[in-house]
Amino acid sequence: MTQQAIASPKEYQMFIKCYRGRADVVAQRQPDGSFKTVPGGFTYKRFLEQIEERNVYCLYNLNAEGAVGFILFDADLFPRPGPGARWDELIPKFRAKKEQVIGLMQALEKLGIRREQILVEFPSVGFHVVLAFEKPLPVQQVKAFARLARDQAGLTYELPFYPHEVCGYGDRVLLPLRRNENTGRRSNFVRDILSFDPATYNETPDFHPLARLQLIGPGVVEKAVEASNSQDYERVARVEELPLGTTKLALYRGERVLLVNQNGHYYALGELCPHACGPLSLGQLRDGEVNCVWHGARFRVNTGEVTAGPALTGLVHHPVVLKDGYVWLGPSQP
Ligand code: FES
Repeated sequence: MTQQAIASPKEYQMFIKCYRGRADVVAQRQPDGSFKTVPGGFTYKRFLEQIEERNVYCLYNLNAEGAVGFILFDADLFPRPGPGARWDELIPKFRAKKEQVIGLMQALEKLGIRREQILVEFPSVGFHVVLAFEKPLPVQQVKAFARLARDQAGLTYELPFYPHEVCGYGDRVLLPLRRNENTGRRSNFVRDILSFDPATYNETPDFHPLARLQLIGPGVVEKAVEASNSQDYERVARVEELPLGTTKLALYRGERVLLVNQNGHYYALGELCPHACGPLSLGQLRDGEVNCVWHGARFRVNTGEVTAGPALTGLVHHPVVLKDGYVWLGPSQP
């Protein structure tokens, strides 16, 4: 493998610039598996060591100003396959992960990210989806954006991302283009996720992934996060968590809410009884009413009005919308 065949320093200077937080936060893997920070940053020489598998490096994903240059969504298989895992058994799982990645990319596109601004790596235990910014952005804003994309793809509980910790220099992310210890296969970048098949992927590393990756300019992340913050509706539960004829306790902006599925009609009411704050989620749903187990008050679920004391006032209720398999609530109304 010659240096000329790999990449031009100029190309990878761009990579380095957008990928790392700052020059002194690149670390090198030690014989015991730990990482030790090395001065001087991620040089081209170190990049070559990485892809020739002479050293493994990682980058900390946070700079001294608390800003990050990239997001990495980690769509690896979990639990990780152990050494010697059978490849033919893993392929269906990789294909399922691929579907998740396609869903995530569609969600990102709805948030204003273009396809050419999304880089997908197949590290042979799943996928990594990488976005890089022209200028590092405040970490809280980036995390809010990543959560938004993940939630909109329906992967809230399934898709971790970096940065998720923000102490010290932030998260460590292993550099791509390395051989995976569990599968013995080498990672690669995926040019076309729709036609990509894990069973037949080409292990030859793509040394020019950034030639295809466009950086995300200012305003895109900020706009998406602002738009999301200005929306009053909040997702509070999966629809499947609320079968016919049941109730469920949920939280809307920190407030206790009683979700109700009455004959396929969904309602959301204040969950604390107005009499003495009894928890209505412990009551029974019967004949369109829910009861309070503390002193027996009853409320009509479609309106919130009191039908039996000792409560004197009815329950606030929230507008309910079902979307993308989730229950969304708007602000409460008297
Ligand atoms: S708390 Fe509900 S009736 Fe008293």
